[in-house]
Amino acid sequence: MEIFLDTADISEIRRAAQAGLIDGITTNPSLMAKVAGDGDPRDLFVEICEVVDGPVSAEVVATDTDGMVAEGRRLADLHRHIVVKVPLTEDGLRACRALREEQIAVNVTLCFSVAQALLAAKAGASYISPFVGRLDDIGHDGMEVVAEIREVYDEYGIETRILAASIRHPRHAREAMLLGADCATLPPSVLYKLMQHPLTDTGLQRFLDDWKTLGKEL
Ligand code: G3P
Repeated sequence: MEIFLDTADISEIRRAAQAGLIDGITTNPSLMAKVAGDGDPRDLFVEICEVVDGPVSAEVVATDTDGMVAEGRRLADLHRHIVVKVPLTEDGLRACRALREEQIAVNVTLCFSVAQALLAAKAGASYISPFVGRLDDIGHDGMEVVAEIREVYDEYGIETRILAASIRHPRHAREAMLLGADCATLPPSVLYKLMQHPLTDTGLQRFLDDWKTLGKEL
């Protein structure tokens, strides 16, 4: 499973990219608003693309098809890593089709059902982003939607990549791996939690204590 970092924070992106931990980045307007400040958000997208050797999702903010297509073209022109993110609305799916006809990669976002995911695939989506945590928030089982999309995409030979999103904790990430999501996008805090295990810490401490008894250097 590919791991994307779900942030626009360039220092977090540098840290994870330099460690070779991530395959790409996803952003959304809320994440951009947190960090872009007075700067031009397009400059931030370019900076992110130069740090990460992989897809960088950049979301449109127009809500009509023509506006989304125009913004999508401008975003795609910024850098070859850009994947244009459009919402799963009728206008969004029309924009997806139009952008795909121009060979622009598209991530269809705000997906909450397997039926929506099938329609996004028909519109030619490169990625579909089911929002797991937000479904859990309203008492549904977000991971069940990921499982259903995997089943339907496999059944019909659909190549749209499943990008599990709105991942809130390590268990979500683990389930996404086990269910066969193609990618999951993780907030930095979840990425580093995945790395941690108390038995790793105690095991390392024991090795170091035992080595110390030797009194030798390497
Ligand atoms: O990738 C989508 C993600 O940013 C949404 O996450 O936690 O705001 O539901 P969240």
